[in-house]
Amino acid sequence: MEPISHNSTALNNTTTIIAATAEYVKAKLSGEGSGHDWFHVERVWKNAVRIGATENADMFVVELAALLHDIADWKFAGGDESAGPRAAREWLERVHVDEQTIAHVCEIIRDISFKGAGVTTSMKTKEGMIVQDADRLDALGAIGIARAFAYGGHKGSELYNPQVKPELHASFDDYKKSRGNTINHFYEKLLLLRDRMNTPTARRIAEERHAFMETFLQQFFKEWKGAE
Ligand code: ADP
Ligand code: NI
Repeated sequence: MEPISHNSTALNNTTTIIAATAEYVKAKLSGEGSGHDWFHVERVWKNAVRIGATENADMFVVELAALLHDIADWKFAGGDESAGPRAAREWLERVHVDEQTIAHVCEIIRDISFKGAGVTTSMKTKEGMIVQDADRLDALGAIGIARAFAYGGHKGSELYNPQVKPELHASFDDYKKSRGNTINHFYEKLLLLRDRMNTPTARRIAEERHAFMETFLQQFFKEWKGAE
């Protein structure tokens, strides 16, 4: 009988842990109605794997962070930013992931969120950059538009109000408190993301999605003014 090499055990183990994590997150986020549902996570996971394919990164960390990044978002945890990393750590300890990986995944989840136009959010590691790009790509394009209005509806925001000007938030606190309308969110965040991508692959994918949002906004304002 062949001895089981250390590598094949590790491979098996990481594959099993990723599959179990996907099941756990799926059960927890299925049916969520504000755009942070399991399908969002699944898209981020796939995009992270795609972006990671051309980067020299620890894909175990990338996949775990992509899967767990929205497990307990501050937006739904009463503004508590430590809820996400805490929930992720609890799960990863339960499936016996090593401490170094847990710390890295939790750091990514802590740093990943957009915190306002004027706030620099730099990821500390390649793995973090990949997951942040994958998450941000899902805020762009047709899906990004759908998610923005889903989230706006969930919060009770207006679609648009020409009397309220977009604000480029200088601090995370201002951004968190913001009660703007959903069209303003495009100017406060979504249109800024293309130029803030960390990796060349994500920058390329972002181009088309960015252009699509600009077309959408042009059409929106044309219709807003009234039919010609
Ligand atoms: P992240 O934390 O990944 O930077 P968020 O969780 O803040 O992103 O946003 C998730 C989705 O909800 C995105 O598609 C984003 O555009 C949308 N969203 C967040 N805040 C608002 C808002 N104030 N109005 C409309 N959509 C929003
Ligand atoms: Ni997300």
